[in-house]
Amino acid sequence: MSATLTPLNPANVQGDILVGLPKKVQHYLFFQIDNDVTSFRKRLGLLIPLITTTAQVQDDRAKISANKEAAAKEGKAPELLKLSGVNIAFSQFGLTKLGITDNVGDTAFVEGQLKDSQNLGDAGTTDAQGNFTPDWLPAFKNQIHGLIIISGDSELTVSATQATVMAIFNIGIHITLHEVTTLKGVVRPGAEKGHEHFGFLDGISQPAVKEFDTKPNPGQETVRQGVILCGRENDVDANNNNTPFVRPPWALDGSFLALRYLFQLVPEFNTFLTQSADPTTGLSSDLLGARLVGRWKSGAPVDVFPLQDNPEAGTDPSQNNNFRYDFPDDQQTQDRCPFAAHTRKTNPRADLEDLNISTESRRIIRRGVQFGPELTPAEISSGKTIEQRGLIFAAYSGSITNGFQFVQHSWADNTGFPINKPVTPGFDAIIGQNGNGPRSLSGANPKNQSATLALPANWVVPKGGEYFFSPSIPALRSTFAL
Ligand code: HEM
Repeated sequence: MSATLTPLNPANVQGDILVGLPKKVQHYLFFQIDNDVTSFRKRLGLLIPLITTTAQVQDDRAKISANKEAAAKEGKAPELLKLSGVNIAFSQFGLTKLGITDNVGDTAFVEGQLKDSQNLGDAGTTDAQGNFTPDWLPAFKNQIHGLIIISGDSELTVSATQATVMAIFNIGIHITLHEVTTLKGVVRPGAEKGHEHFGFLDGISQPAVKEFDTKPNPGQETVRQGVILCGRENDVDANNNNTPFVRPPWALDGSFLALRYLFQLVPEFNTFLTQSADPTTGLSSDLLGARLVGRWKSGAPVDVFPLQDNPEAGTDPSQNNNFRYDFPDDQQTQDRCPFAAHTRKTNPRADLEDLNISTESRRIIRRGVQFGPELTPAEISSGKTIEQRGLIFAAYSGSITNGFQFVQHSWADNTGFPINKPVTPGFDAIIGQNGNGPRSLSGANPKNQSATLALPANWVVPKGGEYFFSPSIPALRSTFAL
């Protein structure tokens, strides 16, 4: 790709990547393209005007803020704005089906996530020939060609937009697109808004993108554009001496999307916290939960607030990301934060940076949404999951091999990471995986840091996923649509 690039134009980039489609409800429609590929491509041309760009999301977000401010001035609740957004992405199977033969330059994407599942640590079975099959839902063992993300203020708006999308692709008996499955996500209600199902505030720490997010919050790292968008500055292979990736020209301003359908066993997680707490040493179940995640449920980081929650700081962007695991006692002790806490494993900050190892290319932008209902009384009393709930995890980056795949395989699942510690850190307490094998971590109790805490089973259970490429609007016009 050319070294002299025009500045980033937000109207060229799909809206979920850099800003995030506004959402209360979000549908993820996984599809296969039918045999009449030419008709599909023509119909894709009709969908393009409906695709929400970054510039449009910026406008929508400005409207939401203005609406909130106006309501606050009048002392009223803000009226619900009717908003909906659409984005589209394709898997390698989809590119092949469309006859796009260029190699996009990402081995994980080209192979697909089903083939990567064992490497990611997913549980599954291996047959006599040594072929591994993960314990995924059948829908995700199909070839999925693409994904349409439909986002909006309510189930009604999103269902109506989904019907419009389907009508564009399929008129009467002329079917050009088949739904494989639709996952329906919904933001949690009331005070739990923004919290994932274990109860922790999520979506706090995202990298700022250079010359796009011009006012980063204290502690928020700015990454060069190529870390998130293909073809931009620093679109390099961090696993191969930062060699520039070779991409086709149409990949410019596109981004890879790692999608994971993650079930969460919430009652079991809660029971574990209660049973493993050790009040005699000051380890309450709330503190244990905070130490496994790296943040209190409020969002306050344990590195700054190691013994007591600070809910005000948890939601304050000037405080809630302003830490590096570099307090004098941080690098060699787990007094403040276990080495294997989820946030530390997935963004180790000073653990690597102070060894002069950059983490820039490992950063991902996390979107996604919760799915499933709140805990039912029967689940609370039995301590057993009955309803399906969890996270539709969606992470964008300029490379799956640098980003999601590396974070999951080489950090979360790697018991020796972070490196150079006096004890073995263990598995990422939330997402670390060991196939069907056991997991444990050290440092859960600050008063007994070398003790190992066995984690009984995975609380986060992958049930499917795929790697996608989310093309720029110009690429959709020039290369994907007719
Ligand atoms: C941060 C929960 C899956 C990567 C967080 C936070 C929570 C959380 C509560 C703290 C909020 C924040 O800093 O934004 C979960 C849950 C998951 C899950 C419940 C599964 C159901 C994953 C996966 C990955 C991942 C699969 C990547 C392999 C990250 C990263 C951060 C983060 C990079 C930010 C860390 C930082 O910058 O300090 N997650 N997460 N998460 N998570 Fe997850």
